Amino acid sequence: MFVSGLLKDKRILITGGGTGLGKNMARRFMELGAGVVICGRREEVLKETAGELAGETGGGISWKPLDIRDPEAVERTLAEVWDDGPLDALVNNAAGNFLSRTEDLSHRALDAVVNIVLHGSAYMTLECGKRWIAERRPGNVLSIVTTYAWTGSGYVVPSAMGKAGVLAMTRSLAVEWGPKNIRLNAIAPGAFPTEGAWSRLLPREDLAEAFETRNPLGRAGDPDELANLAAYLLSDQSGFITGEVVTIDGGAWLSGAGQFNFASMLSDEDWQNLRPKKKDG
Ligand code: HXC
Repeated sequence: MFVSGLLKDKRILITGGGTGLGKNMARRFMELGAGVVICGRREEVLKETAGELAGETGGGISWKPLDIRDPEAVERTLAEVWDDGPLDALVNNAAGNFLSRTEDLSHRALDAVVNIVLHGSAYMTLECGKRWIAERRPGNVLSIVTTYAWTGSGYVVPSAMGKAGVLAMTRSLAVEWGPKNIRLNAIAPGAFPTEGAWSRLLPREDLAEAFETRNPLGRAGDPDELANLAAYLLSDQSGFITGEVVTIDGGAWLSGAGQFNFASMLSDEDWQNLRPKKKDG
């Protein structure tokens, strides 16, 4: 759907870029001409992904092992990345999550998720933002959140807290850093099945199927649909959009929110019976 050089000359870092949706975004950005840096905790995975995507797209890709929960490692890694040339964009994609009753969580479990989702995204954003501001360069931050960043959700409470914080950061910094030509936006995906998320959140087939089909469009998202949206938001074509969150969930959260949407369960006969009866004569 885009011209092939849409992201030409852009250098984009993707956290959690070795697997899942991060890897798919990396592939799409490379197809569109971007140079990509992928970060993640497992060097072997990054190396394999980089080799695979370079072979498939012929584009430029490098990798840096990084646990974004460690602020010193973030600082060190971004200094190394910048030594090879400045970034144009950051994608806060790395996340941590699992399904649990909240009363079963230890403080370590809470920290494990919030430190990745909120602190990790904030450390990355700050380190990039400080450099862009010092160098008077434009910048672009895209964060992957969820619709429960604003609705909240039981059973994934640390993730909901973290994602809500990332959305607040996005909207706050869009205003504070707008005059410095730094844009910040977010994407709120619905059901995009990946091994990493589904094994932790929907570890039973019936749960997975229910989750994937409980939206008005009745299907799961295609990772390329998400990658294309991300490419648009990172491109100069979306240059006037900042502080925005774009939902891509097949209408899932609205269908749960609208008070009368439950009426889709009514049959044709029910609807006929609900119509006012014609008066005799
Ligand atoms: C209860 C759990 C638990 C579970 C871990 N813990 N899993 N508690 N239920 N299922 C507890 C542990 O017992 C421990 O506490 C603490 O959490 C830390 O666990 P570790 O395994 O030591 O942590 P770590 O190795 O750092 O792993 C972090 C992680 C893990 C978040 C727990 O899942 C991870 O690495 N995730 C990264 C990838 C990921 O989650 N992807 C999915 C993102 S999906 P104690 O007290 O025992 O020491 C997403 C999208 C959502 O965000 C939207 C979908 C639509």
